[in-house]
Amino acid sequence: IRPAELIERKRDGGELSAGEVSELILAYARDEVPDYQMAAWCMAAYFKGLSAAETFALTDAMIRSGETLDLGAALGRKVVDKHSTGGVGDKTSIAVGPIVAACGVPLGKMSGRGLGHTGGTLDKLESIPGFRVELTTEEMIAQLREVGMAIVGQSADLVPADKKLYALRDVTATVDVMPLIASSIMSKKLAAGADAIVLDVKVGDGAFMKTLDDARALAAQMLDLGHRAGKQVVCLLTDMDQPLGRAVGNALEIREAVDTLRGVGPGDFGELVLDACARLLAFSDLGIDLAEGRRRAEQALSDGSALAVYERWIRAQGGDPDLSALPEAPVRMPVRAPRDGVVAGVRALAVGIAALELGAGRRTKADPIDHAVGVVCFAKRGDTVLAGDDLAEVHARDESAAGKAVSAVLAAYELVDEAPPARGIVLDVV
Ligand code: URA
Repeated sequence: IRPAELIERKRDGGELSAGEVSELILAYARDEVPDYQMAAWCMAAYFKGLSAAETFALTDAMIRSGETLDLGAALGRKVVDKHSTGGVGDKTSIAVGPIVAACGVPLGKMSGRGLGHTGGTLDKLESIPGFRVELTTEEMIAQLREVGMAIVGQSADLVPADKKLYALRDVTATVDVMPLIASSIMSKKLAAGADAIVLDVKVGDGAFMKTLDDARALAAQMLDLGHRAGKQVVCLLTDMDQPLGRAVGNALEIREAVDTLRGVGPGDFGELVLDACARLLAFSDLGIDLAEGRRRAEQALSDGSALAVYERWIRAQGGDPDLSALPEAPVRMPVRAPRDGVVAGVRALAVGIAALELGAGRRTKADPIDHAVGVVCFAKRGDTVLAGDDLAEVHARDESAAGKAVSAVLAAYELVDEAPPARGIVLDVV
């Protein structure tokens, strides 16, 4: 292939054959196509889009760039997986996994780290002292047999082309290219061997997709990729205009996930967790429908079996499940309501950035993380507050960082006189 010719064709709005897309990606993965040519092609894709066939060819080539896993064959079970496109306060998998496993369905998941204002599940789990995210495939399979769940880091051999391409996109303004996002996410899910996938597509201020229309378009592309690969897929479009639940920050989010498993978590988060669990159970080999899935998920919460699986899971990966083992920030500072009113919104992006500035996230891949710090938003959209009430609380390393975060979080709150229309966490299902 001549990469320059393929870039030119895409730039002029033409379509590449599956073979051409495949050769380009695999040659890039082998370091035979330089970054500047791949970047130019991604930018052409930003302006001219990719056809459904090109997007599938891209996804397929990314999968073929490395090893693949077949957890289903190893376990002799249908394996389900969930994935979120990323948001603020998203600790969903940490609560969903134990519930689904307690209902008898194995959930083996590969997760990522956070970058920028969006957090990553692995970073949250690493706030638990001793927790190991690097398991070999054999260890993961053994743990799935014994405990029913595992959440691990993506092995270096799985979809190496995506690793390389994502790093390039990150620095060439080509992350927010819909077919590239769809193929990046789906290549990892498909390579990890899931038979059925529940996708949580975040919509709003704190998400990649800012509007419901964009989220629907991304969902449609991911559904198409899943179906072409012969998998069952459903997309939940969920609200990311405000942080999910209350806690934003690694150890704080672990506490909230455990509270949820104890049945005392925040309502919006609990609702999303139950919805995702019901769909995973309905996709599973238990042969039950959505309503029965929901009933069993609620049962696993109320009888304590989900919490018991959580504790076994954390111990199996070397961690201490006792919440008192989690790191705590030395400084806590309240964010007080400046007036009486109703919360019209809590801008997720602003809260995410405040948590990032506190040290809960990383700006560049190499940055260390402070697991103890973050923000807890007590008041959410629709809540009535009085002047002086605590809207939120900042958990910080020192007074100066806390003061700055308090101002930033206060600016994220919009207080009005009239209650805004109520809105559920799940905005649509496709
Ligand atoms: N998450 C991914 O894994 N890839 C993208 O391109 C965007 C979000």
